[in-house]
Amino acid sequence: MPVIRTLSQVVRRMLLSPACDCRTSVVPTRFLGFSPRQIPADANFHSISVTETDHPCVLITGGLGQLGVGLANFLRKRFGKDNVILSDIRKPPNHIFHSGPFIYSDILDYKNLREIVVNNRITWLFHYSALLSAVGEANVSLARDVNITGLHNVLDVATEHNLRLFVPSTIGAFGPTSPRNPTPDLCIQRPRTIYGVSKVHAELMGEYYHYRYGLDFRCLRYPGIISADSQPGGGTTDYAVQIFHDATKNGKFECNLKPNTRLPMMYIDDCLRATLEVMEAPEKSLSMRTYNINAMSFTPKELAQEVLKHVPEFQITYNVDAVRQAIADSWPMNFDDSNARKDWGWKHDFDLPELVTTMLNFHGSDTGLPKLTENIKWKSACNLDSCQGKMIKFFML
Ligand SMILES: NC(=O)c1ccc[n+]([C@@H]2O[C@H](COP(=O)([O-])OP(=O)(O)OC[C@H]3O[C@@H](n4cnc5c(N)ncnc54)[C@H](O)[C@@H]3O)[C@@H](O)[C@H]2O)c1
Repeated sequence: MPVIRTLSQVVRRMLLSPACDCRTSVVPTRFLGFSPRQIPADANFHSISVTETDHPCVLITGGLGQLGVGLANFLRKRFGKDNVILSDIRKPPNHIFHSGPFIYSDILDYKNLREIVVNNRITWLFHYSALLSAVGEANVSLARDVNITGLHNVLDVATEHNLRLFVPSTIGAFGPTSPRNPTPDLCIQRPRTIYGVSKVHAELMGEYYHYRYGLDFRCLRYPGIISADSQPGGGTTDYAVQIFHDATKNGKFECNLKPNTRLPMMYIDDCLRATLEVMEAPEKSLSMRTYNINAMSFTPKELAQEVLKHVPEFQITYNVDAVRQAIADSWPMNFDDSNARKDWGWKHDFDLPELVTTMLNFHGSDTGLPKLTENIKWKSACNLDSCQGKMIKFFML
C-alpha cells in the first residue's frame, strides 16, 4: 500500500517537525476568487511583518469596548496617531471618531477584514472583538459566531498577510477542574461557559497556527480588568468597575457576587502595558505563546474595605446573581504568572491600594469627593511615573 505509507510518512513528519519545517507546506486557506488564500512554500513568516517599517501599522478589532479605546490611545502615543486604526461594528461617539482613524469592520466578514488589512498595510492586529462571559451565556449562538468563527477569519487573514497577531484570553479559559489557587499556565482547562470554551479554542488554534504555519501569535490571559473611563462589556468581574462609580455617586453599592468571591484583577494601565510588552518581546524570549498575567487578587469584601478607608460612609450590600456567581466560582482565585515574569520581564505597577486611590480620584473629581491624602497621592504619583503617565490623564496633582 505505497500511497498509505506515503501519507502516514507525511503526517508523521508534520507532527514531529518544528514550525520551520512545517512552513515548507502551504496554508490550506479558503479559495476566494483570483486571490487564493495560499502561502508560498518559501514564505518567511517571521521576518516580514514588523521589520519593513520603523513602527507597526496596527488594526484593533472590537475597539469600542471596555479595553479597545484605551489600547488605541496607548499605542498611538507610541506609534503615531495615524498608524493605529480602531474598528468595530458600532458607531463611535464623536470624541473617539475625531481622536484618530476609525473604520467599520465586522470580523464575521472575511473579505471586509482582508480589504482593511491590505489597503492599510496592516502589520499588527489586536483582536479584541468578543462576547464576554455573562453576555455570552445569554446568547450562545452569537457568542459562538463572534468568538469562534470570527477568530477563524482573523487567524486566516493574519497568516495570509504575515501579521503579528495578539488575541487576549482570560481567567475564564479555566474551569472548576483547574487548580484555582494558584492557576498555572499549563493545567487542565474545562471551562463551562461558551466564552471560556471559545477562548481555549482561540489559544489552541493560535498556537497550532504558530507551530504549523509560523504565525506570530501572541496571547495573554487577562484577569478582570478595571478601568476608570470606559464601561465594562458584560463580564463576571464588572462589579469591580461599577463599585467605584456607585461609591462616589451614591455612597453605596449592590454587589452581584458573594462577599468572599476571590478573583484575579488588574488595573487597565498594567493590562495595556503588558499587551505592548509581549508584542514587542523578542521571539526568542517567548518560551510559549499563551501566558497568564496577574497583578492582584481580591474579594468584594476586601475591595469594599479599601474603599471604606477613603469613603467612610460607604455601604455595600449583596444581591447575588446566580449565573455570574456560578461562573466566578469556577474561575481561578489566584493566577500564577511566573512564566511571563521570567520570559519577558512582566511586572505590575498597581496593587489594591493604588488601584482604589486612582479609581476614586477619577470618579471623585466629578462628585466632590474629598481629595485623597498627600501620602496616597504621592504613592499614586510614583505609579504614574512608572507607567510614564500613559493612561491616568485625570490625575492632576
Ligand atoms: N474586560 C475584561 O476584563 C477582559 C478580561 C479578560 C479578557 N478580555 C478580552 O479582551 C477583549 C476586549 O474586551 P472588552 O472588555 O473590551 O470587551 P467588550 O465586550 O467591552 O467589547 C467587545 C467589542 O466587540 C465588538 N464586536 C462584537 N461583535 C463584533 C463583530 N462581529 N465584529 C467586530 N466587532 C464586534 C463589540 O461591538 C464591542 O465593542 C475581549 O477579547 C475579551 O475577551 C477582557
